[in-house]
Amino acid sequence: MGFAQLVKKFPEEGNLSFSRPYFNHSVEFKKIFTPEERAEMLERVGLNVFFFPSEMITGCDLLSDSGTTTMTNEQWAYLHMGDEAYGSNRGYFLLMDQIREVFGEEFFNDPESNRPNAFIFHQGRPCEDALFTLMGKLGSGMIIPNNGHFDTTRANIEANGIRALNLFSSELKDPDSVSHFKGNMDLMKFKELLEKSRGKIPLAYLTITNNTGGGQPVSMENIREVSELAHKNGVPLFLDGCRFAENAWLIKKYEKGYANRKIKDIVKEMFSHADGFTISFKKDGLVNMGGDLFLKDNGLFVKKYPQMPDALTDYQIIKEGNPTYGGLSGRDIMTISVGLGTTIREEYLTHRINQVRDFGESMHRKGLPVMTPIGGHAVYLDVDRFFEGTKIRKEDFGGISLTAILLAAYGHRACELGCFAFGSYDRENGKETFPEINFVRFAVPRLRYEKQDLDSVIEAMKVLYENREQIPPVRVTYGKDLALRHFKARFEFK
Ligand code: F0G
Repeated sequence: MGFAQLVKKFPEEGNLSFSRPYFNHSVEFKKIFTPEERAEMLERVGLNVFFFPSEMITGCDLLSDSGTTTMTNEQWAYLHMGDEAYGSNRGYFLLMDQIREVFGEEFFNDPESNRPNAFIFHQGRPCEDALFTLMGKLGSGMIIPNNGHFDTTRANIEANGIRALNLFSSELKDPDSVSHFKGNMDLMKFKELLEKSRGKIPLAYLTITNNTGGGQPVSMENIREVSELAHKNGVPLFLDGCRFAENAWLIKKYEKGYANRKIKDIVKEMFSHADGFTISFKKDGLVNMGGDLFLKDNGLFVKKYPQMPDALTDYQIIKEGNPTYGGLSGRDIMTISVGLGTTIREEYLTHRINQVRDFGESMHRKGLPVMTPIGGHAVYLDVDRFFEGTKIRKEDFGGISLTAILLAAYGHRACELGCFAFGSYDRENGKETFPEINFVRFAVPRLRYEKQDLDSVIEAMKVLYENREQIPPVRVTYGKDLALRHFKARFEFK
């Protein structure tokens, strides 16, 4: 018997637990702080975790998965080869090749073609700003529907006099639903909107995965059906592609007919339905900074708005820079071109999504009220259910108390995305309006933490849950009436 046959007699790797598909290339030691020191600092910053110095975080920093990626050694090597030429730097061409390879040829035209369709910006939101500032000039009374607008997308749309409408799927709000694609757009509602508001919808959006909707994925069927419906009504479809690779992996895993398809092919199919997309590379681009707006060559968007490519180029030059570097340094563009190749590797994505899933499912098994199934990049804890049976009501902002105590007592930072972040205070009548959802989000940075790190968050959350009666409500001492108040407000315990 040959050695290759001999090894086959031993159980396959698949039945055992996996080690990570990468190893640490360089590490940074944390500084050690006591709970008392952290509590003192939190009091100084008015219990607002955004103001808490990251150097004092002894546990896991799960505030965001955006821009917090640990880059690979290949990315650091390419960073050193960055070309900072003012026009047509080396990275620009590498990025062009990689975008074509990952999303499709038609999303990045050659500079010789004279049909600009790829617009580099410094992150996701300036792409939204550019797109919606120009769309806003097209008329009044417009509506842009989405399966779940991210906050900056909504803010940029509304700042330009357009209504941003969420068409969440009904499964999203149903804790008993076992649907794997709770991030879908509600097709019936979309159909009704198209009929009711004919001529008022300049484009439709799908956010993959649906960050505002629990990080839940969107099925290929939904992308295709939304696209068909939109196109039938002369409406172009855009994707918010921040977490496109995670969405593709979840399609492969859970959607019928995709199990044997390559991630690369699934991604191409997803984007084949779109007429354009915005993307923050700070998520699935596996980098710390960068964004882009892409228009499909000959897609419905450029056909319908032929003036847009040139208008976008002007806007980009005025606000960011020459189109070949936009809002980025050449070295950053190099890291994106490498990151996009890594992010669609099957073994990377399998590890990534399983890590987030295991993290969330362990919390769920311990009785913590988290949204299930667990989404691609984060675990969402339902604050209302967490405090059920205690004295904490919505207006006590339990999510703020919880994030402050978790950070002080155990050194882990999470983010309130609920009654405070998405609620608002009316100065006239002194009343709060609350959103439909009330979450604390634990977003997992890419390639940064090990199982042991996340296990310690689960243990801490279990102790907090068992002692939830001890968690006091907060009073807002500054900023309850401000826009984007969660970034600015200060609190104290009542
Ligand atoms: N779209 C989605 C779906 C996002 O999640 C984000 C950012 C953006 C657009 C904007 O991108 O930050 O590069 O300007 N989400 C981060 C988060 C901030 O923590 O979820 P950006």
